[in-house]
Amino acid sequence: MMLMAPELGAVGETLRQRLADVEQRFAAELLSDIEPVNTLVGYVERYRGKMLRPTLLLASAEAAYGPEGFEKHGESFAVLATVVEMVHMATLVHDDVLDEAEVRRRGATVNSLRGNEAAVMLGDYLISHAYHLCSSLPRPSQEVSLGRVIAEATNTVCEGELLQLAHRNDWSLNRRTYFEIIRRKTASLCGLCCRLPGLVIGEDEGPASTGEALRAFGEKLGIAFQIVDDLLDLTGDPATVGKSLGRDLAKGKLTLPMIELLERVEAGQIGGGRAVTRDGVWARLERQADDTLPGEVREREATELAGLALASGAIEAARERAEGLVEDAMERVRGALPGTPGRALLLELSGRVLTRKA
Ligand code: IPE
Ligand code: IPE
Ligand code: MG
Ligand code: MG
Repeated sequence: MMLMAPELGAVGETLRQRLADVEQRFAAELLSDIEPVNTLVGYVERYRGKMLRPTLLLASAEAAYGPEGFEKHGESFAVLATVVEMVHMATLVHDDVLDEAEVRRRGATVNSLRGNEAAVMLGDYLISHAYHLCSSLPRPSQEVSLGRVIAEATNTVCEGELLQLAHRNDWSLNRRTYFEIIRRKTASLCGLCCRLPGLVIGEDEGPASTGEALRAFGEKLGIAFQIVDDLLDLTGDPATVGKSLGRDLAKGKLTLPMIELLERVEAGQIGGGRAVTRDGVWARLERQADDTLPGEVREREATELAGLALASGAIEAARERAEGLVEDAMERVRGALPGTPGRALLLELSGRVLTRKA
């Protein structure tokens, strides 16, 4: 979890308690009178992730609306924090089917334990419960429907995943499309999390509102978060990250470090006497996605690709991009919110997106 460090003070401790409450609500919502359903749900409840999305929602609420906001709307914030974690969990369970991933949160994935059919249905069960839980909340006003706003974000997430699928094995994928994919599949949900508290409060809307600043903050942070995830997929240590790595290369997904590498190769910027051509890198990428080749061959070549990305400065460039986005995100918050302990917490947590190892 992102909140393990003790130096976050009283406001961090309050957030920790609120997240523990979200965990309980999560389990209560999914409880079924059908035992096989509970067994399946048990697989995703056994291991906790970082709880980034409920953290973003609750920390944004604290930063923008303070303890008074929680006094009035704490129940809605808690329900919505549970809803966004459930939506996220559904996308992970389905994503592990798409990526044929075997490990998630240091445990075996549902697809590896119980097969794709069970994993697809569990993902559906989670998304259905997310909307079921959300519909227990009253509409903040005649004009605002929380369910509709959440559905807009989940529509966008699905479009991002579908756009990514459409570009599978596309070695000339450009940056623009890459950013479009990650903005939709990951950042839209992060933006939503930061936006929801303002919708509950019913504050003034519009491009200059606090809610819009928080949405933009969450979206930028979400893009940075996915870039870091893509770096971890290429260079991370599986034991530390706790999930199957190398899946992007294996599934023909070109991510920012590889796009940066290809640009450098094409510009003839790979030094050190290495004879690296675009066709050579493409051939290696092609072989990554060829599951008729022996695992050792693909692993060796994946290490070579990661080595090239490092030596060419592609890794550093991707990391710098993520750093720039986090800085921009923080700037939005600094410009929109007063300097309270809640804001300090939100900024501190934002920085951890870059330093995370898992
Ligand atoms: C994984 O999300 C999927 C991505 C968007 C990269 P997290 O890294 O937040 O997953 P958990 O919830 O902590 O396991
Ligand atoms: C998935 O991206 C993002 C989602 C919307 C689920 P990844 O495929 O990179 O996520 P991980 O690495 O499996 O967690
Ligand atoms: Mg995946
Ligand atoms: Mg990934």
